[in-house]
Amino acid sequence: MAEFDVIVIGAGPGGYVCAIRCAQLGLKTAVVEGRETLGGTCLNVGCIPSKALLHASHSLHEAEHNFARMGLKGKAPSVDWPAMLAYKDEVVGQNTKGIEFLFKKNKITWLKGWGSVPAPGKVKVGDEVHEARNIVVATGSEPSSLPGVTVDEKVIVTSTGALVLPKIPKTMVVIGAGVIGLELGSVYARLGTKVTVVEYLDAITPGMDGEVQKTFQRLLKKQGLDFIMGAAVQGATVKGGKAKVTYRLRKDDSEAVLDADCVLVATGRKPFTDGLGLGALGVEMEPRGQVRTDAHWQTNIKGIYAIGDAIAGPMLAHKAEDEGMAVAAVIAGRHGHVNYGVIPGVIYTTPEVATVGKTEEQLKEEGRAYKVGKFAFMGNGRAKAVFQGDGFVKLLADKETDRILGCHIIGPAAGELIHEICVGMEFGAAAEDIALTCHAHPTFSEAVREAALACGDGAIHS
Ligand code: NAI
Repeated sequence: MAEFDVIVIGAGPGGYVCAIRCAQLGLKTAVVEGRETLGGTCLNVGCIPSKALLHASHSLHEAEHNFARMGLKGKAPSVDWPAMLAYKDEVVGQNTKGIEFLFKKNKITWLKGWGSVPAPGKVKVGDEVHEARNIVVATGSEPSSLPGVTVDEKVIVTSTGALVLPKIPKTMVVIGAGVIGLELGSVYARLGTKVTVVEYLDAITPGMDGEVQKTFQRLLKKQGLDFIMGAAVQGATVKGGKAKVTYRLRKDDSEAVLDADCVLVATGRKPFTDGLGLGALGVEMEPRGQVRTDAHWQTNIKGIYAIGDAIAGPMLAHKAEDEGMAVAAVIAGRHGHVNYGVIPGVIYTTPEVATVGKTEEQLKEEGRAYKVGKFAFMGNGRAKAVFQGDGFVKLLADKETDRILGCHIIGPAAGELIHEICVGMEFGAAAEDIALTCHAHPTFSEAVREAALACGDGAIHS
C-alpha cells in the first residue's frame, strides 16, 4: 500500500484547498511546500498582503479627502511605513498560520521542501522519496520576465518586491495596466507616489468590458495615476539607485524615456513548473507552458493531476480552489465539477471592479442577440452617502430568453455584489429573477436589481 493516497505539490489556494478536501473525503493526504509558511503566492506575497496595503492606503485617502466633508476635522494621519508593513505582515501571518491549523485539524502531513516527481506515484522531497497513489501538481505561477528589464527586487520590482519596498518611492513607473499594476499602482498613488502606468494596448485591463475599461481609467486618472497607452516598454536600467525606462509608442514608433525611483513590472505571470521533472516523465504541456490536463484535471500520465495557475485558464486563486475541490472529488471517486463560464474576476481598487460571464464585446463577436440593463451608482442612495456614486452595474441578458449572460460592475463593493449574479447564473437565472427579488434598502445591492429592472420595463431610480 502506498504511503499516501494523495500528495499535493504546492500549498497555495489550489493545493491547500485540494488537500483539505482530500482529507475530508477520507484520503490520506500530504502537501509538499518549500516556503517557510503555507498559502503560496496568494497568502504570502499576493492577494492577502496587497489587500492589507489597499485597505491601509484607502483609509488614508478617506482621511485626506472625505473626512472633512463629513464634519470630521483635524489633520489627516501621517504614514509610518514600517508600521504599515508590519500590519500587512501580521495579516499575512494570521492567514498562513490559519492554514497550518487547518492542516493539523485535518491530519494533513506537511512535507517541508521542494518536491519533484521522479516517477509516477513517487514524489521526492529533499533526500526522501514518498509514495502516493495520486499526485496533484499545484505549483502556481511566477512573474513573467520582460526582455531588456532585469528585476533586482529593489529598484526594478515584481509584485513581490513592491510589497516590501524600504521606503515609499517619490516616483514609480508601472509596466502593464493589468490587475497587479493597477492594484499596487493605486496603493502607492494614495501614499503620495507619482505613478505612471505604461501599457502596450490602447485600453487598460485587457479582456474586460469596454465601458468598464473606459470608466475605470477615467476614475484612476482622477486619483492621480498617469497613463501612457499604446506604449511597448523596450527596457529599463538602474544607475545610482534610480531607473530609466525606455518605451516605444506604437502609433508613430517614437521612443521616450521615463525616470523613476521604482519600476513595477506587472506584465503577466507564467506557470511555475521548473524542477518538477515533468518533462522527463513525458507529461504533455500546452504551447504556452501550462501543464495539459483532460476534463478531470488528469495529465496524460495516469495518477498525475494538475490544477490552478499551472494549467490553462484564468490565473485566479478562486479558480484554483474550485479545481482543487473538484480534483479531490475525482480522486475520491466522485464527480468533480467547475463551471468555467461563471468565474468572477475582481480588482480591489477603489472603486472595485468585478466581472463575470461574457462581455458585450464577446457577445457582439459571437453574433448573439442580447440586451443591456445598466444602472449608475449615482442613483443609489447608499453609494452617494459614502462618496462612491461613480460607476455602474451593467447586466447582459439574452434578448429572447432573458437569461443572464454576464455582469460587469464598477463601484462600491463590486467584488461582493457580483456573487448575486454568479449564483443566479449557476441557477440559469433570467434578469427578471433578479428584478423580482426583494433587495434590502438602502444597500449597494439595489444597484444590481436596478440593472436587472433595466433589462425589462426599466430601472426606477434613473
Ligand atoms: P495581466 O496579464 O493582468 O496584465 C499585464 C499587462 O501588461 C497587459 O495589459 C499587457 O498588455 C501589458 N504589457 C505586457 N508587455 C508589455 C510591455 N512590454 N510594455 C507595456 N505593457 C505591457 O498581468 P498582471 O497584472 O501581471 O497579473 C498577472 C496575473 O495575476 C493575472 O492573471 C491576474 O488575473 C492575476 N492577479 C489577479 C488579481 C485579482 O484577481 N485581484 C490580483 C493580482 C493578480
